[in-house]
Amino acid sequence: MSDPEIIATTSSIGAEIRGLDLADCSDDQLAVLQWALLEHHVVFLRGQQLDDEAHEAFARRWGDPIPNPIVAHLRGAATIGVVYNDAEHLPDRDGEGWHTDHSWASYIPDVAILRSVTAPAVGGDTMWCNIAAAHDALSPALRDLLSGLTARHDPGERFALEMRARMPAELVDELLLAFPGVDHPVITRHPVTGRPGVFVNPGYTRVINGVHPAESEVLLRILFDALAHPDHVCRFRWQEGDVAIWDEHATLHRGPNDFAPHRRELRRFTVGAAEPVAV
Ligand SMILES: [Fe+2]
Repeated sequence: MSDPEIIATTSSIGAEIRGLDLADCSDDQLAVLQWALLEHHVVFLRGQQLDDEAHEAFARRWGDPIPNPIVAHLRGAATIGVVYNDAEHLPDRDGEGWHTDHSWASYIPDVAILRSVTAPAVGGDTMWCNIAAAHDALSPALRDLLSGLTARHDPGERFALEMRARMPAELVDELLLAFPGVDHPVITRHPVTGRPGVFVNPGYTRVINGVHPAESEVLLRILFDALAHPDHVCRFRWQEGDVAIWDEHATLHRGPNDFAPHRRELRRFTVGAAEPVAV
């Protein structure tokens, strides 16, 4: 088997990997893919032929699939995550803001592996940003200040509303009690590369601890702007069969709501879990 080809999307984040069949890749090819992920933070593989079973088998080569903490609380077992929208199941009106998956829990996944089952006729891209590039763009004085601070993350009102639309009130109350929020360092160290990154996100981070509320608001605005700066962002247009793999410790992602009422279906496994660690 020949070496896969790696074509960077931007100099900050993203790469397309060509010449690799995820249903049948060698250990050497997988190692190249894992190296490319550390280097580019999110990688894209077009036109793969994975069904749910092959998707899970590929995910298991990266580690144990870890369920979303809500699924773990309700059912215990890891299952495939499904994102489905059409004219009867419209995407959230406000779209999905920048986030690290379930940063409101004490651990986050290491890697997410998402595949397109049905690509919408228009829109429906996913975007990722590089949290280390956002860190490097801050002044050294601000980095020093932030490196000693923590921030509060919680699931938030949108989460509660979504849950209330899907499940009985008692169960939602149980989940809100089970996940009241958690503190994470504002600047984290990547578990493999050691690179510092800005670990706050507009989806789930509410407040920076230990400073006045007005200061927290200003600091979070500066950090959210740094994270979403176009220099640190890449964007992927889905076609059926495509797979995106991203490093949850190195990126945030978001999905703009710009494809309704078209049908879109994505399926996902998340693998591994680690607590975000201070720099
Ligand atoms: Fe997500």
